[in-house]
Amino acid sequence: MSDLEFPVLGGWTMRRAGMADLEQIAQLERQIFVNDAWSPELWRQELASPHTWYLAVVPVDDPVVVRGYAGLLALPGSKDADVQTIALAPDVRGVGMGRELMNQLHAEAQRRGVRDVFLDVRVDNDRAQQLYHSLGYTDIGIRKGYYQPDDVDAIVMQLPLASNRPAAESTSGGGPAAESTSGGGPAAESAGGEPAAESAGGGTAVDSTAQPANGDQP
Ligand SMILES: CC(C)(COP(=O)(O)OP(=O)(O)OC[C@H]1O[C@@H](n2cnc3c(N)ncnc32)[C@H](O)[C@@H]1OP(=O)(O)O)[C@@H](O)C(=O)NCCC(=O)NCCS
Repeated sequence: MSDLEFPVLGGWTMRRAGMADLEQIAQLERQIFVNDAWSPELWRQELASPHTWYLAVVPVDDPVVVRGYAGLLALPGSKDADVQTIALAPDVRGVGMGRELMNQLHAEAQRRGVRDVFLDVRVDNDRAQQLYHSLGYTDIGIRKGYYQPDDVDAIVMQLPLASNRPAAESTSGGGPAAESTSGGGPAAESAGGEPAAESAGGGTAVDSTAQPANGDQP
């Protein structure tokens, strides 16, 4: 996809992110997530992975400057994907860019044949939760004390992608497993604030009692 195909909102647009953006992303990460921030080394692994797909939010007139980012992890052949993270600098929020980033991640998941997208979000992050619910995500579980050192729980959310589901499932399948306390993406396997572990890759049968971690964003 050409970068020109990404929309412009309030003077901002997006492009694919890559290793050249590592320093700016790691700096934004520290500013935005503070205690939950991923390390530069983890970011290096995320950006280097062939299975992730990251976008950077940039000013239309200066696409080298990174003011936000979001990424997806989808292992080859897997029907599950994970939103690894999404974040915008304060001056980029509220113009619809968060919603647009999520839509772009979902479109990439569709292209990869994914059926369900998962994410984790802090229970105290109302703004992000509102965004995800408005996009069709449902809560499927809680990970107690997932975000450390703040000792904040994570809500696990799931979005079925209707167009990639067998017709028989389209009305019943993929619905929220309300009773489940597991599920979710590789975030569950991550520890110490690490992003989703590729080895586990988007599985839904994940032990939600996995050790508390600094957690993924979202
Ligand atoms: C979460 C975040 C990505 C949302 O992006 P955004 O650009 O601010 O959101 P948008 O302008 O696209 O708005 C999308 C939805 O978010 C919600 N939202 C936006 N501003 C909000 C506010 N001030 N209060 C509550 N909800 C809000 C609304 O549901 C909104 O939909 P609507 O405009 O149709 O009502 C952004 O606020 C952010 O980077 N926050 C800090 C990092 C973070 O928390 N990341 C998520 C980790 S799980």
